[in-house]
Amino acid sequence: MRVLGIETTCDETAVAVVSERLGGEGGEILSNEVLSQIARHAAYGGVVPEIAARAHIDVLDRLIRRALERAKTEAKDLDGIAAAAGPGLIGGVLVGLTAGKAMALALGKPFIAVNHLEAHALTARLTDRLDFPFLALLISGGHTQIVAVKAIGDYRRLGSTVDDAAGEAFDKVAKMLELPYPGGPQIEKLALEGDARRFDFPRPMLGREGADFSLSGLKTAVRQEILRLPTLSEKDVRDLAASFQAAIVDVIVDRVRSGVRLFTASEGRAPQGLVIGGGVAANGAIRRALMRLCAESGLRFISPPAALCADNGAIIAWTGLERLKRGLTDDLDFAPRPRWPL
Ligand code: KG4
Ligand code: ZN
Repeated sequence: MRVLGIETTCDETAVAVVSERLGGEGGEILSNEVLSQIARHAAYGGVVPEIAARAHIDVLDRLIRRALERAKTEAKDLDGIAAAAGPGLIGGVLVGLTAGKAMALALGKPFIAVNHLEAHALTARLTDRLDFPFLALLISGGHTQIVAVKAIGDYRRLGSTVDDAAGEAFDKVAKMLELPYPGGPQIEKLALEGDARRFDFPRPMLGREGADFSLSGLKTAVRQEILRLPTLSEKDVRDLAASFQAAIVDVIVDRVRSGVRLFTASEGRAPQGLVIGGGVAANGAIRRALMRLCAESGLRFISPPAALCADNGAIIAWTGLERLKRGLTDDLDFAPRPRWPL
C-alpha cells in the first residue's frame, strides 16, 4: 500500500509518499519533501496566517510532483491520498485539503482527512514496532498535551496546557531575549553554555494531580527577571536560556510521570511505551530527561528522529495509510477543522 500525504496546517508545506514495510511492521518513507516558510515569517516574529496560506499555494503543486518523482511513484499507482484537515490555520488547511481532494477525485482514489495531532501521535508506529495502547506527549508551537493512544481513532486526552503551549513559551521567552524566531532551537543552543542554576524559576503544576500544564507563569517570571537586570549581557542571555529550559524540562518530566500514573490507573495496565511528537520534541534536553524517566520506570521510550517530530508530510501519509488499511476513508465534502481536539 502506498499513500501520499499533504501537510499545510502551519508554516511548513510538506508532501510525502509512504508505503507499508514488507512484513507489515512500521512504514517506509519513499519521499518526504518539506519547504519551511520560516524566512517569510521571521520579520514578524511569528507565523502570519495570510502569508502562510499564500505561500502554500505558491509551492504545493511543485512539491507534490517532486514527492512523486523522488518516490519513483506514478500518481495512478497510489492507493490513497491523505491531507491534514486540521487543527491549524484555516487558510493553509484549505489549500492542502482542497489539493488532496482534487487529486483523489481526479485519480478515483480513496481520500483520508487526517487529524494533525493524531499524525504526531502515530509517528512512532511509522518508525518503530509499537503496539497499542501507548502514551503520547505532543509538544509543539500550538499544542501541549498528553494522550492515551488506545487504537486508531481511540484517543483519550489525559492532560493539556491551560495557557501557553510549550513551543509558544520557548518562542515568547526567545523574543524577550531578543533572539530570532523560532526561538526553541536558539534557546536550546544558548542553554548549552549557560548556568541553569543562576535563576530559580518556578515550576508550575509540579506535583499537582492530573497531567495538565501551565506555562505562562514561567514566562512571566523570566520577564520579571529580565526587568531586574541592569543590562542584558550575553552571559545573562545564556544563563536565562539555561535556567528557563531547566524549569520547563522539570515541568514536562513531572507531568509525564503523572500522565503515566493516570494511564495505568484508567487503563488497568501500563502503556507499551512513551512516544514524543511535535517541534519541541526535537529538544535534546527534553529528550534526555524523558529517556531517564522512562529508564527509571521501566517504560519503553520511542523518540522518532527530530525531522519526523516536526511538521512533515510522512506522518500525514502514514496516518492516512493506517486509516485506509482499516477502511476509514472520508468523503470529499469533509470540511476543514481549524479546531479539532483528539
Ligand atoms: O510542530 P512544529 O514544527 O509546528 C507546530 O507548532 O505545529 O513546532 C514548532 C515549535 C516552535 O515553537 C519552535 O520554537 C519549537 O517547536 N521548537 C523547539 C525546538 N525546535 C523547534 N523548541 C525547543 N527546542 C527545540 N530544539
Ligand atoms: Zn505539528
